[in-house]
Amino acid sequence: MNTIEKYKKYVNTAFVKAVEPVVVTKAKGAQVWGEDGKAYTDLFAGISVVNAGHCNSEVIAAAKAQMDQLVHCCTYVYHVPAAADLAEKLAQVTPGRLQKTFFGNGGAEANEGAMRLAKQFTKRQEFVSLQGSFHGRSLATLSITGNCGRKRGGGPYLTGCSYHPAAYCYRCPYDKAYPSCDLYCARDLERTLQFETADNVAAFIAEPVMGEGGIVTPPPGYFEAIKQVLDHHGILLFVDEVQSGFGRTGKLFAIQHWDVEPDILTMAKGIADGFPLSGFIAREEIADAFRPGDHLSTFGGNPVSCAAALANIAYFEKEKLCDQSAAKGQVLMGALKDLQKRQPLIGDVRGLGLMIGVELVRDAKKTPATEEAAKVKNLMRERGFLLGVGGTWGNVLRIQPPLIIGQADLLKAVDALEECLASL
Ligand SMILES: Cc1ncc(COP(=O)(O)O)c(C=O)c1O
Repeated sequence: MNTIEKYKKYVNTAFVKAVEPVVVTKAKGAQVWGEDGKAYTDLFAGISVVNAGHCNSEVIAAAKAQMDQLVHCCTYVYHVPAAADLAEKLAQVTPGRLQKTFFGNGGAEANEGAMRLAKQFTKRQEFVSLQGSFHGRSLATLSITGNCGRKRGGGPYLTGCSYHPAAYCYRCPYDKAYPSCDLYCARDLERTLQFETADNVAAFIAEPVMGEGGIVTPPPGYFEAIKQVLDHHGILLFVDEVQSGFGRTGKLFAIQHWDVEPDILTMAKGIADGFPLSGFIAREEIADAFRPGDHLSTFGGNPVSCAAALANIAYFEKEKLCDQSAAKGQVLMGALKDLQKRQPLIGDVRGLGLMIGVELVRDAKKTPATEEAAKVKNLMRERGFLLGVGGTWGNVLRIQPPLIIGQADLLKAVDALEECLASL
């Protein structure tokens, strides 16, 4: 049996429409190779993970060196230097007074743990998150996920979760337009708190730029206006940077595009350039709300993953990857906006840095072009470009490549996209 046949027979993939018909045997930088030798330019980075490039030599060298010393002994039973060093570094590079990190393995685990911490600290039990959001596949993180497409058949979910309309300007839920809206969607959080909650809200949870929801990018001033409401009610600002973190948007963390200090920040995906690791970081007094027995993870803070993450962050600093993301993103955004003028199927182009969404619509009523988006993804793959598709209606092309990708490759991708759209 070949790999695809074994997948069909032995790997549970019933939860995805289809696994891409590429057997990936090798990847380097922004290139992925299939077993047939075909090379692809990777515009999706393993769902926004290998931000410093596939198999980054400096990250791999650090992981290999760590493997020769220690692979596992449990980071919460013993003191492990790589975990201590990484936690110190994260306290330095995250915004504001965020200081103490709990390490886990994946994004859902980070969010779930951080929800527990928010409850312990505030002694409140409710959460408000955003409509269209995605926070993971565990019960608690699905409970705060604001999209029935991810939740169908999995309930009952946690009580005490409310969903506030997101700043999805292209499809403004209030039928307003920025800036004349004066950030109504942020100020209207007051009404959600008043009418949708029991006034017992521990945290407001948001992806600063929504990933799975279709690269929904709030306008300037949004989080400042949200924070005003939160401060008025003593509610924590909990930012889920699992997808938007680690340079994806042109800053190390996307919330740094707004002038606010988060109380809790969760991270995963890009933290260790492909090694499984996640974390949530909080101010000291919040982190210290945990009591013995409240939390732990056997594999969390794995030394190899921590060593990889440290080398990853060092590489970010040496190569100024955030600046690279911002600069390349600006050029790509310009090229895509030009393409939008020639291609009526493109309804909106949005994002920050190299976290860009191209929303496809069929008509002036903005009917989601879901099938067309799936076709474009396949046509792009045939032309040697891998990209993602997301959004509530599956009609948003997601361009989230490794940040080290060459500018020329990005522009070639735009040319290929134009050909694909024209061929529909
Ligand atoms: C914003 C956000 N939060 C949480 C998760 C869940 O992360 P994981 O799949 O590592 O559990 C994801 C995954 O896509 C995500 O995009």
